[in-house]
Amino acid sequence: MTLIHLIYVSSAREDLSEAELDKILASSVRHNKPQSVTGMLLYSNGSFMQVLEGDAVAVDEVFSRIRDDPRHTAVFVIERAPISERNFDRWSMGFKRLDARDAAAYRDYAPFFEHGFDAAHVGARPSVALEMLINFARDQDRGVAVLA
Ligand SMILES: Cc1cc2nc3c(=O)[nH]c(=O)nc-3n(C[C@H](O)[C@H](O)[C@H](O)COP(=O)(O)O)c2cc1C
Repeated sequence: MTLIHLIYVSSAREDLSEAELDKILASSVRHNKPQSVTGMLLYSNGSFMQVLEGDAVAVDEVFSRIRDDPRHTAVFVIERAPISERNFDRWSMGFKRLDARDAAAYRDYAPFFEHGFDAAHVGARPSVALEMLINFARDQDRGVAVLA
């Protein structure tokens, strides 16, 4: 077994309602839990950033389904790399919607998300992307805990 993480950004096809985001979260947890995939999903200004972590086979399988999901487009992988330990082991999938209050509270990260996640900008700094995901996981809105 090889533990990896995969980080990507994408654009939502349309601005998604809370109910639609809840649906994505519910199906994420249903599939990720049995495969021991953990992670964090951020939504900002019509775009997503997500990290998935777990066994390489499981992460690649989950990601291949996500990539083909018609609810988003322009899916760009920022990083897929082996890791020595999980950073999101508490969350089958954590979730946070970022808004102007977060941009004011997290000034260092604001350029990465306040106009939506930009693949070129985020892709140039994958370690900042990961650090940001870890920070927002501590402050998440309504993810589903591994043990929930
Ligand atoms: C931004 C985004 C993130 C998603 N994250 C996951 C995920 O972590 N795990 C997962 O299984 N499905 C995820 N999905 C949903 C899948 O693309 C797919 O719709 C779902 O797995 C299909 O399962 P279901 O038909 O049983 O709901 C995500 C979808 C989107 C748009």
